[in-house]
Amino acid sequence: MSLRNILSERVSQAMQAAGIPAECQPHVAPSKNANFGDYQANGAMGAAKAMKSNPRAIAQSIVEHLSIDDIASKVEIAGPGFINIHLHNSWLGEKAQALTANQGSDDANTTKTIVVDYSGPNLAKEMHVGHLRSTIIGDAVVRTMEYLGYNVNRQNHVGDWGTQFGMLIAHLESEMAKGENPALALKDLEVFYQQAKVRFDKEPDFANTAREYVVKLQGGDEKMLALWQQFRDISLMHSQEIYQHLNVSLNESHVRGESAYNDDLATLVKELQTQKLAVTDNGAQVVFLEELANKDGEPSPVIVQKADGGYLYATTDLAGLRYRANTLNAQRILYFIDARQSLHMQQVFITARKAGFVDENVSLEHHPFGTMMGSDGKPFKTRTGGTVKLAALVTEACERALAVVKEKNPALDAQELQAIADKIGVGAVKYADLCKTRTNDYIFNWETMLSFEGNTGPYLQYAYTRIRSILRKAEGNKLNGPIVIEAEQEKALAIKLLQFHDCAEQVAAEALPHLMCTYLYDLASLFMTFYEACPILKEGVSEEAKNSRLCLSVRVSEVLEAGLGLLGIEVMERM
Ligand code: ARG
Repeated sequence: MSLRNILSERVSQAMQAAGIPAECQPHVAPSKNANFGDYQANGAMGAAKAMKSNPRAIAQSIVEHLSIDDIASKVEIAGPGFINIHLHNSWLGEKAQALTANQGSDDANTTKTIVVDYSGPNLAKEMHVGHLRSTIIGDAVVRTMEYLGYNVNRQNHVGDWGTQFGMLIAHLESEMAKGENPALALKDLEVFYQQAKVRFDKEPDFANTAREYVVKLQGGDEKMLALWQQFRDISLMHSQEIYQHLNVSLNESHVRGESAYNDDLATLVKELQTQKLAVTDNGAQVVFLEELANKDGEPSPVIVQKADGGYLYATTDLAGLRYRANTLNAQRILYFIDARQSLHMQQVFITARKAGFVDENVSLEHHPFGTMMGSDGKPFKTRTGGTVKLAALVTEACERALAVVKEKNPALDAQELQAIADKIGVGAVKYADLCKTRTNDYIFNWETMLSFEGNTGPYLQYAYTRIRSILRKAEGNKLNGPIVIEAEQEKALAIKLLQFHDCAEQVAAEALPHLMCTYLYDLASLFMTFYEACPILKEGVSEEAKNSRLCLSVRVSEVLEAGLGLLGIEVMERM
């Protein structure tokens, strides 16, 4: 349920009854300050403007028409025309008790299809830290949308086509000719790529074979395709292992890479030519976009076919966009790609719109993100300056987490320790990334992300286990309420719980998972405050209060579990 929607509806009805034009919004939001009630409706100001009237008088009239006694204990007008709403404790108690955070949405959003493009590693190489942000931010947003009932189509636009594959399959072929098992040869993709590159640069015969193989491959030669397929399968398996380890919801069925659009590219370029969008420039086919002209007024060039006939990244993305809008029938298409590709995305979006590949009412959204930095303030690298492989990063996270949990729980057996450490390590890496405003660069720091204090993954996982441990101690007690709100800490906690759905809606609308992190951190902090102020299992606490507080605690644990789940982070009973 959405607290904001319930209140917005009531205020909207009152506005209508008061004769305010339907396009005027109620503007309901949580109050920043408890003195101004729990929620505020600030729509009177806008309505007054539209109606050229006095905002306080409008607010007065809205309040007169407001039927909200079952929800609110007090409604008052403040300042120029703010309507402050104080919620009923009894209503909050009922709603909190009825909250089913683990069940997803009760709203019917299923008619809307959303395509989300994320991760998209280049299969020629090993996945590296550069893919981390796209992968985990995209996954968090996808999980949130699915939770809300949207029909989400994950698209993993992997780089599985292009000239470097000529070199790679030529090298794979000669390794296999030497009797090497392909899976073993490709065990370390980075090494394999470097070996192929060295040969390409040093051995003219090999370089010629590589070039010949690209042409053959792109011409559909079966032998080449078989080699390529083998390479691709093994590389995809590497990515899949990382997704699994990272608890990312992508699987093989979501892969639709550059190669999938190969057959469409010639037609696509022809269409752009027919529409006079693409013109010949130095032998290449180029779309010039006035919309993105530089400060000298020169249009931005988008090359869709090189002079040698080859196609480019933009061509494939145009084909992909068309497929998503028309075949997948998406109403929203989201891309989680590094901010450094912003120009590319704009070029693709504008070209696609001009060419009519995408309907006007389809929302095209590039959600960029900043770079992961090392403590030196430069892009995150290994100690020797190399790119950090994603697999190595995840392994290190889990090892570091293991050391921390071992110290805290020397008595746990090795298997359980490892399972806990994996969840903490992965959770720490993900949370540290997700809790930052997406568009900013951020500094990667092992110590802070693995800390059990502050706004971190381990802190939230720990908050969950603490509640679970309280609940275990309460065995034999009633855990299903009723919830009776008396103390202000109980009220604050109940309101926070009831904002979970609104937070998820906002994450889905703006593609900003850090809002969920902030929400969960606030929730955990409010729980700690509540727990200190409102004893549960202490002697002298009435049965009614105990049951109520236990039920409230159950709800907090459920929302923490569900919310972390939306971020792709798992919880555990103890840690
Ligand atoms: N393979 C690209 C890269 O590693 C990312 C692909 C993103 N998706 C897209 N549709 N362009 O930079």
